[in-house]
Amino acid sequence: MENNIIFSLPNNTQLANELSNKLNIETGSADIREFPDGESYIRIESDVENKNAILICTLNQPDDKILSLMFMAKTIKELGAKKICLVSPYLPYMRQDKRFHPGEALTSSLFAKFISSWVDGLITIDPHLHRIKNLSEIYSIPSLSVLHATKKIAEWIHHHIDSPFLIGPDEESAQWIAEIAGYINASFVICKKTRYGDHQVDISIPDIKNMGDNPILIDDIISTGTTMLATLQQVLSRGFKNPIGIGVHALFNNEIENQLLLSGMTKIITCNTIRHPTNKIDITDVIAKGIIEVG
Ligand code: R5P
Repeated sequence: MENNIIFSLPNNTQLANELSNKLNIETGSADIREFPDGESYIRIESDVENKNAILICTLNQPDDKILSLMFMAKTIKELGAKKICLVSPYLPYMRQDKRFHPGEALTSSLFAKFISSWVDGLITIDPHLHRIKNLSEIYSIPSLSVLHATKKIAEWIHHHIDSPFLIGPDEESAQWIAEIAGYINASFVICKKTRYGDHQVDISIPDIKNMGDNPILIDDIISTGTTMLATLQQVLSRGFKNPIGIGVHALFNNEIENQLLLSGMTKIITCNTIRHPTNKIDITDVIAKGIIEVG
């Protein structure tokens, strides 16, 4: 792709290099580091004039990354780039989309306004769309591309699990579980979740009969692991086989993974939207197609 240049933010180099090789896009060079006092230093070393710059930066732990990303996007624009497209396979701040308690910040839309003011394109994978049905409700970016990991997850299940049946922990998971189930002709159920706090949820699971031999719990995000754990406990209490857990975005740490495994999950599999030891499902091709479509 001529006239494009890919820059990687720290820790995104592997994905940036793979995309740049697959799409034959020039790799941009930038010096991104911290001054001794913790402030960000950014220097764009490649020529960006009249080019479309693609910035690869998945935004887990967003508060640590967002300032350097903004400095970089603004500087590249000042140096004459035509357009800036942010590729953030994990898009954060999508869950606080409502004031659950008086006085809370509506961080979904505040974050969206912030990003919308400095990029011309955004490519992401399965953002947490729930009360907000479409990213364009909060992001005012000319090119918005929402891609899905569902086909890749379905392929992984098809190649690794006989007679699967899929379980979604809450109503918003229905959108991607139904799609995955459709690809592989599997049965699925959607549970009802009530959240009482960051570490407290209640899951009620509908009746499951003759749906398949191997339960697979699927969620978009695994963070504290509370949702997966509560769903796992329900599945086991119904006498089903120990399930596999699949998450798109791996926000969890080692301790949570161990807790899930010790509680009866046979394994946990994630997509590489965020680098993590559980990454087994590669979504690089999905992003590459998204970049071609956005142009
Ligand atoms: C929210 O409803 C999402 O779909 C996930 O279920 C949730 O973010 C998982 O978070 P945790 O692992 O902290 O329960």
